[in-house]
Amino acid sequence: MNRRRFLAAGLASLGAGCAPAGTRTASAPGRVALADVRRLVVERADPIAGRCRYVADLGGQQVAQPILVARRGEVFDAVIDNRLPQPTTVHFHGLTLSEAQDGAGFAPIPPGESKRVRFELLNRSGLYWFHPHPMGFTAEQVHAGLAGLLVVSDEEDQALDVALALAPGNRLALAIADVRVTAGAIRAYAPDADDCLHGWLGNRALANGRLDARWEVAPGWVRLQILNACNARGLLLAFRDGEALVPFHLLGTDGGLLAAPQALERVFLYSGERVDIAIAPGGRPALDAVSLEFDPRHHALGAPPSHRHPQRERYAPLAGESVCAGTGGAAADRVPDGAELPLFALRVQGKPASGVPPLPPRLSALADAAAAPDATTRRMRLDFDERSGFLIDATPYQPDETGFELQRGAREVWEIKNSPISMPHAMHLHGFRFRVLRRQGTYGAARALATGSGGRLATDLGLKDTVVLWPNETVWLGVDFTLPAQTPFGGAQRYMFHCHNLEHEDGMMMRNVRVL
Ligand code: C2O
Ligand code: CU
Ligand code: CU
Repeated sequence: MNRRRFLAAGLASLGAGCAPAGTRTASAPGRVALADVRRLVVERADPIAGRCRYVADLGGQQVAQPILVARRGEVFDAVIDNRLPQPTTVHFHGLTLSEAQDGAGFAPIPPGESKRVRFELLNRSGLYWFHPHPMGFTAEQVHAGLAGLLVVSDEEDQALDVALALAPGNRLALAIADVRVTAGAIRAYAPDADDCLHGWLGNRALANGRLDARWEVAPGWVRLQILNACNARGLLLAFRDGEALVPFHLLGTDGGLLAAPQALERVFLYSGERVDIAIAPGGRPALDAVSLEFDPRHHALGAPPSHRHPQRERYAPLAGESVCAGTGGAAADRVPDGAELPLFALRVQGKPASGVPPLPPRLSALADAAAAPDATTRRMRLDFDERSGFLIDATPYQPDETGFELQRGAREVWEIKNSPISMPHAMHLHGFRFRVLRRQGTYGAARALATGSGGRLATDLGLKDTVVLWPNETVWLGVDFTLPAQTPFGGAQRYMFHCHNLEHEDGMMMRNVRVL
């Protein structure tokens, strides 16, 4: 196969991204070019379990639960139609956007109404995603199936596919979520107090909305871009061939490709985080993706105050009972956080290849993290308290708070400390990316997986928008509030910094970030 045919093969499997300038392709099933979406409908698919879906309207053709694909520089210009019985928003997690485009909870779309959103895609290649963010309803709506993938491509991404000589179908974008399944049916969202404390945990994994999902791949490299779309579950992702773990390479994280691939056997992936992986099945007929057993360090006891959002009382749940007073369900319906959980499977079809091409030693021009010498340090502490709930800096969130205020272009070091009597928190910043500079106080089993300087995990080596802190840990982040010169928006913009355990997010573990 010549270089051109490799390119075409990669294109066929991803469905877009590598098309020559001026054309857009999204021919693979479920793939939709971001720029072709005229309307994004948010609707309930089944009122009994309250499952919901996104439907992309391309002006004639409708695609349910689309995977959006785009190249940097393309424009999204669509009307978002809220057909849910609750307010919603569409937040584009990881993208560089203004407050009005970001879809955070500040201006939800009321039920039955719509809103036009237009933006230019300014980000590097990588796996991004979109999901609802209305205050008090985020956990319920994401759990209902509202988590869409957005695969962004650029020259670096395209060069990598060529180097891997990907066969058609060997590049996949996957969203993993967990649900409670009893008697073959997904239970509606009805968290009890314990679920509101630790987060809603299911007993089965969905991959792109399917239970027991499997994909057929050809021999050779397989490139997987994987999102943890679970409400609360941390994953320790690995690939099993029977009892043996099959090594793989970490190519990228939240904000795109790493400078160089990292050889691993397991990788932590918390709610909201993404990994980009290359794995070669070799002669194996199948690989099982699993979350391995680990100690998730849930040390907090007690009950959080119930989610008393004025909004929650005005609208009915999507199905089932009220939030935080729900019956939750039998303990057997939850697999504890950190327990082993099967995720999906790959079946290898075809004659095993004689080998795979070597991975490129450099994936991108990304430099290793360094704090700007002029960066100011902002310290914050994560806590939980039975009276006020989840706290950042001992202060409960107020939607109209000022929060942190800083100048566009500022570079700061965020020193974040998680309390020892706590649980893991996956902290996420909207609109900007950061570098993980250092970890301290990491518990032994996680620290043993550190591969970078400063106790950093392999996933800490790239550009991040979400980072996990286990109890007793302190992380130092280098946050860069520089916006690209051509950014088509000015003026003060509000963003959110919050825990991506969605029960914690709805529990108001959040701070506003105002960029002037
Ligand atoms: Cu993915 Cu503020 O969220
Ligand atoms: Cu986000
Ligand atoms: Cu949290």
